[in-house]
Amino acid sequence: MINNSERTSRYMGRISFTGLLVFLLLYSLPLEIIAETKSSREMPSVMVLNPASELWRDVRQREGSNIGNSQVRGVDSGVLINAYGDTWRKFRMQQLIPIGGSILAGVFILLGIFYMIRGKVPIEGGPSDRKLFRYTTYERMIHWFVASIFLFLAISGLILLFGRPVLIPLMGKEAFSILASACKEGHNLMGPLFLIAVVLIFFRFVRRNIYQRGDLSWLLRGGGIIGSKHVPSNFFNMGEKSMFWLLILVGGLIIASGLVLVFPLFGQGREWMELAHVAHALGALLMIVVIMGHIYIGSVGMEGALEGMTTGYCDLNWAKEHHDHWATEVIERGEDLSNDEVERLRRSEPPGRIQLDLQEHGK
Ligand code: HEM
Repeated sequence: MINNSERTSRYMGRISFTGLLVFLLLYSLPLEIIAETKSSREMPSVMVLNPASELWRDVRQREGSNIGNSQVRGVDSGVLINAYGDTWRKFRMQQLIPIGGSILAGVFILLGIFYMIRGKVPIEGGPSDRKLFRYTTYERMIHWFVASIFLFLAISGLILLFGRPVLIPLMGKEAFSILASACKEGHNLMGPLFLIAVVLIFFRFVRRNIYQRGDLSWLLRGGGIIGSKHVPSNFFNMGEKSMFWLLILVGGLIIASGLVLVFPLFGQGREWMELAHVAHALGALLMIVVIMGHIYIGSVGMEGALEGMTTGYCDLNWAKEHHDHWATEVIERGEDLSNDEVERLRRSEPPGRIQLDLQEHGK
């Protein structure tokens, strides 16, 4: 028989033994961790190869087709590793972003230097008191439609391309992530509208942008922007015509590749999308550079250039100096108007209607 005092002392003995074990365990645990951390700091690190890396390297560099079999039915579902993904990533990070960024910044600086040297090209004969009708309301509307969509796409696209290296250091990751998401959604939404805008521009302006005799001499003489020699030209000069065709052709490439990127409807896999991305980015950078030049000449670079695209009428002397073949034709038809007449007509009727009236009355 065990009496009560024996039972209590055995019980106490068990508690103290368990306590000792817990104490030792708790005490030894941090020591073990510290010892391990210390030893791993002191010991030279040993490179342990991922046993699967050979397999993945083999899959990635496999000769011929890299498409395997899979029960999953879908584009690219048989592709274990897209071998071009890394090539595309390196091109984007190591060439497209640094070289593209330098070109854009370079062109911007060159335009600034050019402006400081050349200044605004003036109307040599000074602003005249007569004007010629140049663009209908519809033509001006589609011009500003394509311009605003292009500018939006260009700015949002540049933020997506250069945001990481340029904007994150300025605004931080969180603010940039909000901006980048907004740009991506906006870019995807507005892209298809650019297609509509380019189609409208094409049908409206194509006839006046067909190359004619005399266009080449405009190009050979640098369009008159270098030096102050007068260079004859038609309704559009060779520079404007070339910009138009670039907008149609390179713009077409940007639109087609953009549709491939936004809509996964054409059975395109990742390789096609990588190619589409490269074409999209290179085409867009080229177009942005050209449009920077266009905006420069159309705004601060040349006196009198913007008037036609904002009011519908251009100055007679400007037209004679920059589009003299066309100006001569309009003057011979007797369609030049005094500034007062233009003011009066603009107040009462839209310019598109005025041109029809003028043609009807043979003025
Ligand atoms: C805010 C920026 C812009 C300004 C200030 C501007 C200015 C002008 C001006 C002044 C003209 C008339 C030139 C003349 O009468 O000879 C013009 C024509 C034109 N612009 Fe712009 N523009 C801008 C943006 C754009 C953009 C972004 C595009 C296209 C992406 C564009 C495409 C055109 C086209 C296609 C023409 C007719 C020239 C031709 O068909 O050859 N413009 N622009």
